[in-house]
Amino acid sequence: MKRLSVIGLILVVAMTIGLASTTQTAGKCMTCHKEKTSGMYKQWLGSNHADHNVTCYDCHAADRKDPDAFKHEGAWIATLVTPLDCGRCHPNETEEVSNSYHAHAGEILESADAYLAHVAGGHPIAVVGCETCHGSKVLIDPDSPNKLSKLSWPNSGIGRINPDGSKGSCTACHTRHTFDKAQARQPEACSKCHLGPDHPQKEVYEESKHGNTYYTNIDKMNLDADKWVVGEDYHIAPTCATCHMSASPNQKVTHDVGQRISWTLRPPISKRKDNWQAKKENMQDVCAACHEKQFVDNFYYQFDGVVRLYDNKFAKPATEIMKMLKKNKRLKRPASFSNKIEWVYWELWHHEGRRTRHGAAMAGPDYAWWHGMYDVAQNFYFEFLPEAEHYNDPEVNAYIDELLNENPMHNWLNRPTSELKQEIKSGEMQKVYEKMFEEDK
Ligand code: HEC
Ligand code: HEC
Ligand code: HEC
Ligand code: HEC
Ligand code: HEC
Ligand code: HEC
Ligand code: HEC
Ligand code: HEC
Repeated sequence: MKRLSVIGLILVVAMTIGLASTTQTAGKCMTCHKEKTSGMYKQWLGSNHADHNVTCYDCHAADRKDPDAFKHEGAWIATLVTPLDCGRCHPNETEEVSNSYHAHAGEILESADAYLAHVAGGHPIAVVGCETCHGSKVLIDPDSPNKLSKLSWPNSGIGRINPDGSKGSCTACHTRHTFDKAQARQPEACSKCHLGPDHPQKEVYEESKHGNTYYTNIDKMNLDADKWVVGEDYHIAPTCATCHMSASPNQKVTHDVGQRISWTLRPPISKRKDNWQAKKENMQDVCAACHEKQFVDNFYYQFDGVVRLYDNKFAKPATEIMKMLKKNKRLKRPASFSNKIEWVYWELWHHEGRRTRHGAAMAGPDYAWWHGMYDVAQNFYFEFLPEAEHYNDPEVNAYIDELLNENPMHNWLNRPTSELKQEIKSGEMQKVYEKMFEEDK
């Protein structure tokens, strides 16, 4: 790990002692590590870095003043190689990563998720669970000068907080020591983190037509190409990188994964991103390499419709009820997450509601419905509302009564099936949702 100013220093030192000795130092790293850690050496040897004479020392050299620098076989080095180190040679990627939401993923200590893991789980699980995806704050071992603490490393979380003040870890996607572009273009590069009950992007992709087409045609994806522009260098199927990062005929590669998405679907109620129209157009431009405009516009109409449906029909009323219970001091135990309804509400938005929206965003029908809206509806009507009614709060019960009797999206529970079937058939029921959609625009 070294700061930019330090590079200047290294250059001066190198020039004074003569470049020959630096080359010698660098050469020794490979000669010895070829014996000591042969697998690692071979990963490096097969890399584009080795082809361009980027050596162990180019990445691992450190200034002796760095908090994690130590003397190793006559050279000052650090084990961590942070975005700032890679940024010496790759300034654009480093800049984009630091501007992305990924770089902030280590700042989760204040979140409800973190609180839940610490109280209901326990500290060790936060290190091995949360921090392995989000990133740890890398600490120095107090007992072993300048070595990394076992409480915080190994770690290659996406928003790792490094001792040099930089955020993130390029190896989160670029497996070391090959640092191979072809590897990062594949969906597996993202799927260590983007999977599971609360953000199943990997599973959604696998069930989508895009995933099917990709997995049955990997050999036609031209993954090893130097330039990888959708529609020009490949055309069979998009990967995660294609849609969120890679180049299109009109856009360059971006390392800021937020540049092409219009919604933030993580919170209980969805939020539009700043400047969302332009971000949506960036994504639609990627689709346009393989689909026509009308197809893409219609897809977005359907996707936005599901987001609004989830928000208006379920997320807003459930959130309102939780607020009332808290305001009226109805929750029995004092600590957050010590009352059953808090878990029920949590699963409604954090798991089921996200699955619905992610399924709709990336064309995965099973996640949109069976693992998604089906679970939301079952939870809302048969767990959340009954649990809320247990508290016998007059304000809450009046709110629920009105919802189930007056609201046209919810009043089906108290009406005869035959009448409802007739409304589905005649298209009357559909109009309720179209109206909601228009009003919410
Ligand atoms: C004479 C053999 C030898 C040379 C030369 C050598 N290393 Fe090592 N290196 C090792 C061994 C053995 C280890 C395993 C560490 C241990 O067990 O102390 C190691 C460990 C490391 C580590 C991990 C250290 C840690 O504790 O996290 C890094 C990084 C590293 N070497 C990089 C380099 C670089 C860069 C160079 C060139 C400047 C280099 N090595 C030169 C033998 C060598
Ligand atoms: C392109 C930059 C780059 C080059 C070149 C490079 N490394 Fe690394 N190395 C990294 C990164 C990134 C990590 C992950 C460290 C971290 O957590 O930040 C790493 C980790 C390591 C580790 C500790 C992790 C482990 O898996 O044991 C050792 C040891 C190491 N490198 C040795 C070497 C040696 C020896 C060479 C040359 C053969 C080399 N590196 C070349 C970037 C590089
Ligand atoms: C001393 C300069 C230097 C440093 C430091 C460096 N790289 Fe590179 N990197 C290069 C060069 C040179 C190439 C090959 C030319 C190119 O593609 O730009 C390259 C290529 C790459 C590629 C493309 C590989 C491919 O398959 O074509 C990736 C990915 C990459 N580097 C990532 C990293 C990461 C991550 C780090 C830090 C852990 C890093 N580099 C550190 C100089 C460097
Ligand atoms: C090491 C874990 C990890 C990997 C690998 C990873 N991500 Fe992420 N990603 C995250 C986390 C964590 C967040 C949420 C950030 C937060 O909590 O602050 C996130 C957020 C995102 C977002 C939302 C950004 C925004 O602005 O709202 C997108 C899009 C995304 N990732 C795409 C990708 C893609 C595409 C890949 C693979 C090429 C990938 N990620 C690889 C962990 C990862
Ligand atoms: C398997 C990897 C993984 C694990 C383990 C994990 N997360 Fe996440 N987390 C993610 C990803 C990926 C996202 C972004 C999902 C998206 O954008 O849809 C995320 C999102 C979040 C968010 C929302 C951030 C925002 O700004 O909206 C918080 C907070 C969070 N995680 C905290 C935690 C905590 C605390 C833990 C441990 C109890 C944890 N996560 C465990 C991968 C993980
Ligand atoms: C979220 C995953 C992810 C992270 C994190 C990430 N990269 Fe990349 N990177 C990619 C993907 C995917 C590509 C391939 C894009 C393409 O060619 O389509 C890539 C390509 C590259 C290239 C090759 C660029 C070219 O035009 O040939 C370099 C260099 C690079 N990354 C450096 C970095 C550095 C430095 C960092 C950390 C500051 C980093 N990356 C972090 C996913 C990531
Ligand atoms: C066909 C293009 C496409 C592919 C392939 C794709 N995505 Fe997406 N992704 C989207 C679209 C479209 C959205 C929603 C955009 C919006 O909000 O306007 C999205 C949204 C996201 C989000 C934001 C979720 C949130 O909670 O706010 C994440 C994270 C994400 N994708 C990750 C991935 C990962 C990881 C993969 C691969 C496993 C992947 N995507 C594959 C198009 C794609
Ligand atoms: C690299 C080309 C490529 C890109 C880019 C791409 N798709 Fe696709 N898409 C396909 C292929 C191939 C299929 C499968 C067609 C089939 O069903 O036979 C498909 C299928 C679909 C389907 C299912 C259609 C159906 O008839 O069932 C939807 C929806 C879809 N894409 C939306 C999108 C959206 C939205 C984007 C941009 C966010 C996008 N696609 C980007 C290639 C692509």
